[in-house]
Amino acid sequence: MLLNIRIQLLCAALAALCQACLHERHFQASGLAKRQETPLSPLSPEEQILVDSVSNVSISEWSYYYTHGYHVAGKNMSMAEWTADRWRESGWNASVVSYNVYLNYPVNKSLSLTYSNGSTFQPLLEEAVLDADETTSYPNRVPTFHGYSASGSAEAEFVYVGRGQQEDFARLKELGVSIEGKIAISRYGGPFRGLKVKNAQENGMIGAILFTDTADDGNITEANGYAAYPDGPARNPTAVQRGSVQYLSIHPGDPTTPGYPSRKDSPRADTQAVTPRIPSIPISYIDAIPILAALDGYGVDGGTVNRTRWVGALNVSYSTGPAPGTTISMSNLMEDVYTDIWNSIGIINGTNPDETIIIGNHRDAWIVGGAADPNSGTAIIVELSRAFGKLLAQGWRPRRNIVLCSWDAEEYGLVGSTEWVEEYVPWLTDTAVSYLNIDIGAAGAWPYFDATPELHEISTDVMKKVPWMDTNRTMYDAWFEYTGGGIGVLGSGSDYTSFIHNGIGAIDIGAGGGSDDPVYHYHSNYDSYHWMTNFGDPKFLAHKYMAKYLTLLAYNLATAESLPLNVSNWATQMEGYYSDLVDTINSTSDTLDISPLRSALDEFTSRTREIEALEQQAAASKDAALTTLVNHKKRDFQRGFVSQGGLPNREFYKNLIFAPGMDTGYAPTTFPGITESFLAGNISVAAEYVKKTTDAILVAANIIKT
Ligand SMILES: *[C@@H]1O[C@H](CO)[C@@H](O)[C@H](O)[C@H]1NC(C)=O
Ligand SMILES: *[C@@H]1O[C@H](CO)[C@@H](O)[C@H](O)[C@H]1NC(C)=O
Ligand SMILES: *[C@@H]1O[C@H](CO)[C@@H](O)[C@H](O)[C@H]1NC(C)=O
Ligand SMILES: *[C@@H]1O[C@H](CO)[C@@H](O)[C@H](O)[C@H]1NC(C)=O
Ligand SMILES: *[C@@H]1O[C@H](CO)[C@@H](O)[C@H](O)[C@H]1NC(C)=O
Ligand SMILES: *[C@@H]1O[C@H](CO)[C@@H](O)[C@H](O)[C@H]1NC(C)=O
Ligand SMILES: *[C@@H]1O[C@H](CO)[C@@H](O)[C@H](O)[C@H]1NC(C)=O
Ligand SMILES: *[C@@H]1O[C@H](CO)[C@@H](O)[C@H](O)[C@H]1NC(C)=O
Ligand SMILES: *[C@@H]1O[C@H](CO)[C@@H](O)[C@H](O)[C@H]1NC(C)=O
Ligand SMILES: *[C@@H]1O[C@H](CO)[C@@H](O)[C@H](O)[C@H]1NC(C)=O
Ligand SMILES: *[C@@H]1O[C@H](CO)[C@@H](O)[C@H](O)[C@H]1NC(C)=O
Ligand SMILES: *[C@@H]1O[C@H](CO)[C@@H](O)[C@H](O)[C@H]1NC(C)=O
Ligand SMILES: [Zn+2]
Repeated sequence: MLLNIRIQLLCAALAALCQACLHERHFQASGLAKRQETPLSPLSPEEQILVDSVSNVSISEWSYYYTHGYHVAGKNMSMAEWTADRWRESGWNASVVSYNVYLNYPVNKSLSLTYSNGSTFQPLLEEAVLDADETTSYPNRVPTFHGYSASGSAEAEFVYVGRGQQEDFARLKELGVSIEGKIAISRYGGPFRGLKVKNAQENGMIGAILFTDTADDGNITEANGYAAYPDGPARNPTAVQRGSVQYLSIHPGDPTTPGYPSRKDSPRADTQAVTPRIPSIPISYIDAIPILAALDGYGVDGGTVNRTRWVGALNVSYSTGPAPGTTISMSNLMEDVYTDIWNSIGIINGTNPDETIIIGNHRDAWIVGGAADPNSGTAIIVELSRAFGKLLAQGWRPRRNIVLCSWDAEEYGLVGSTEWVEEYVPWLTDTAVSYLNIDIGAAGAWPYFDATPELHEISTDVMKKVPWMDTNRTMYDAWFEYTGGGIGVLGSGSDYTSFIHNGIGAIDIGAGGGSDDPVYHYHSNYDSYHWMTNFGDPKFLAHKYMAKYLTLLAYNLATAESLPLNVSNWATQMEGYYSDLVDTINSTSDTLDISPLRSALDEFTSRTREIEALEQQAAASKDAALTTLVNHKKRDFQRGFVSQGGLPNREFYKNLIFAPGMDTGYAPTTFPGITESFLAGNISVAAEYVKKTTDAILVAANIIKT
């Protein structure tokens, strides 16, 4: 996963985590009531065959395979073939599809701190090799680096910029801190890392250093008395978060082929629009302490800066600096290449060729391990393929096509999925019903999901069919305890993005830890099989129950005669986005006429009543043609929400109802064309997007009209 999900929740009770998780997910209250204990829903005979097939023993074997070989994007074709082979063994048709894309790989880097008195500090820049964790010592272990980072060097005084959002830079300017020509040191968390580097660059800074702060580790820290990995559940002090510095909120995919699939002979665009020009290097907290400490007493201290999560948990004052005469010298050398990447694609043809359910997970990892990100999800989808194989062996066929995807190069910027969607968008537009994504399938034992509104109901219903972690408690109850019944709006950060922005509904599921669970070493060498079997999911039970869940969800979507998608919930959810927009407008002195949007929502709501009535009529009359008509409306209506031309200055992002925030990259903004233009003071552009969004909702309403 590109994204640092709610891996470490900062609230303990978890019931009210909405604002509290690390990257500030935008939960829309689902309005679901929680009963004391939810009874398990019964299974059909076919569902029983599927869930009985799922075993934590085979999942542990798949996990072992994926976590003991180098599989950075574009480096392991045999792993793609192995994956397709497992699917074929279970009766799926499968092939490996390649694209030729721009990537870059690390060659060399250096970083040193020179105090004004001339003495120096030399950071480690690499993660410690641990005897207990064999893959940390592999000779081909992956160095710490940023994907798509710029080659270059910089030497200058440096400034702490908090989490590196535009507002952090605005605050520094307001305080009179000199930032131009300096190097930025920024904390991870909040916005997507590429946007931190982008903001530094746009503010005239010449290099960026990103560090992990233990304030993001919940209660499980060495300071609270926990031993560090591998001896205990706290963060290993040398752990470094690798990751892409692409400008995710502008567009994902191959930076050189925006809007079209990457072939060897494809025309290539300049990468400047979506990748930085200044070098950046990620470091551990143990390396960050002396660098931050060198700023203590210089510039403005962290408390006075008074910005969200500016002050972390390290023993420093989080002063801005710069410290006169104290400098950093850094260099970063990357090798730029055009290289093949490989998606594995499996298919079970349905009896009805014009409806398709797609299931996807990425396979590439930043490290040899990748036990949670992404290969917990990879092990789960191999197990899912086996479960469907049990039914196929009995001559079973689903009503709808099922397409299973193992993406490459997600980590650099959703590259494998974006290129594939760009290639198959005409067929997807005609037939895709839903896309089901699983990235970090298990980094702990608490399930969560984000989804488009029509999937909320089926997603929670299926959770009531799954017992959780070898107990009689339902997955629904575990999920409810963790999220308070909140279902996130999809922003970006994993492979659902290209689907959403072509008007295809999607869900992103996973399981993670709470603030009192072992710290997940995101994008670090310690996201390994050893960590997983000792801390993350020791018996592969979260893997096992997530596999049962995803299999049942896919089965229900692929086989139900009447598609179990609730269109009315779009009306409900959009009312929430609308009242957020009203609040946004009312919180400023600017005005904006959104009455056309109000009317469009009313129109959409009344059309949802029509389709519900038609659905009941189809069910009562058992009229197959009518059922197909309703199903096709449910399949198609979201295509209306996408607009040619996309959002202002980012044509890729076409969905006018939600998109990743321009300055967040992960977290969503609702009615983004309107909201972001309005907040930026571009009232005429906001008005233009009131019209476009209104039109989009009316197109969707027209599709469900009966
Ligand atoms: C964990 O931290 C939360 C606040 O962050 C606190 O309320 C809770 O008591 C802590 N739990 C433990 C076991 O320390
Ligand atoms: C690809 O991954 C497999 C399985 O982890 C591993 O055995 C193999 O060595 C890797 N290939 C390369 C080229 O590193
Ligand atoms: C890598 O960096 C080291 C130290 O800065 C330098 O001596 C060496 O020449 C560099 N190698 C390459 C290939 O740039
Ligand atoms: C130089 O300054 C640093 C930071 O204040 C200090 O740790 C170090 O001991 C000093 N070195 C000398 C030689 O004075
Ligand atoms: C910090 O900022 C908030 C508003 O963002 C304000 O309410 C608070 O008083 C400020 N605190 C200090 C110490 O300035
Ligand atoms: C924090 O740092 C100061 C010096 O900067 C040192 O005196 C103190 O012992 C440190 N505290 C801890 C808990 O390490
Ligand atoms: C695989 O493809 C073959 C040939 O096109 C077809 O006959 C078969 O039904 C397909 N199998 C599945 C599971 O879709
Ligand atoms: C299976 O579905 C794919 C995609 O619709 C289609 O190209 C292919 O011809 C189908 N195969 C069979 C055997 O129906
Ligand atoms: C689950 O429920 C069944 C039947 O009520 C009971 O026999 C079994 O012991 C329970 N298992 C657990 C783990 O609570
Ligand atoms: C599978 O789960 C069982 C408990 O249901 C556990 O005893 C066993 O150790 C697990 N196997 C693996 C390989 O983790
Ligand atoms: C669809 O969801 C809405 C909540 O948004 C609910 O009121 C309604 O009953 C659901 N429709 C069906 C057919 O389940
Ligand atoms: C927001 O503004 C609208 C019109 O400007 C007004 O009708 C409404 O009462 C305001 N709502 C709130 C919560 O202030
Ligand atoms: Zn991932």
